[in-house]
Amino acid sequence: MALLELEDVHTYYGEAHILQGVSLAVGEGEVVSLIGRNGAGKTTTLRSVMGLARPARGRVRLRGEDLTRLPTHEIVRRGIAWIPEERRVLPNLTVLENLKLGMLGVGTSEAEAGSRLEDVFRHFPRLRERVDHRGQFLSGGEQQMVAIARALVARPTVMLVDEPTEGLAPMLVQNLTEILAAINRGGTTILLVEQTLEVALALSRRVYVMDQGRIQFQGTPDELRKDPTIQQRFLEV
Ligand SMILES: Nc1ncnc2c1ncn2[C@@H]1O[C@H](COP(=O)(O)OP(=O)(O)O)[C@@H](O)[C@H]1O
Ligand SMILES: [Mg+2]
Repeated sequence: MALLELEDVHTYYGEAHILQGVSLAVGEGEVVSLIGRNGAGKTTTLRSVMGLARPARGRVRLRGEDLTRLPTHEIVRRGIAWIPEERRVLPNLTVLENLKLGMLGVGTSEAEAGSRLEDVFRHFPRLRERVDHRGQFLSGGEQQMVAIARALVARPTVMLVDEPTEGLAPMLVQNLTEILAAINRGGTTILLVEQTLEVALALSRRVYVMDQGRIQFQGTPDELRKDPTIQQRFLEV
């Protein structure tokens, strides 16, 4: 059974029929990437999982349990974390305060909180150094680290990560790619939306290519590399 599964999901914004029957599955322990041009519907797919955009038809399941009609906080409580494109690090809160926010929704005891923070700082030593800095004084890369770390302290089963490398310098992209790989080796399943093809292919076991609200291709990174037609039709600008 898939850990996370979307089956024939249709999502609208008002009258606009954005997701037109999206089916995809993420297995336990996998990194799966969802790629495609701007406007393809990738973010809407993640929002549909979180209940932030409500599918009009179709199902979202976690270990076979239907999440489709649950409120977002309940979806979070069941173990799905969302790291939005905009990062949303609170500017007036410190790194530590931002991270503590990540534990609020899942009810973490004080004793447990310390060990979770330690785990997260192992992935992000940079954040340990900056623990008392306010969000507004962090670089773009550091903000992305906070956004991921804040999701990670909730010990999610699945992380939905939306374009984490966007706007980051190449060295940071490399660094973040390695961190995501390490988080996955630690047991967290990842559904990654990523516009840098090489990052997506390097991290993922399987890839879905989306265009105009539909899955147009699914396969392994190797299969995608060998398919210039798919790349030309759905990935190049
Ligand atoms: N809040 C919204 N209201 C109306 N249309 C939206 C909204 N958000 C996104 N869209 C439209 O939905 C389509 C898919 O957007 P999105 O899921 O953000 O694509 P992607 O993440 O692949 O770039 C686009 O045509 C976009 O303009
Ligand atoms: Mg998007």
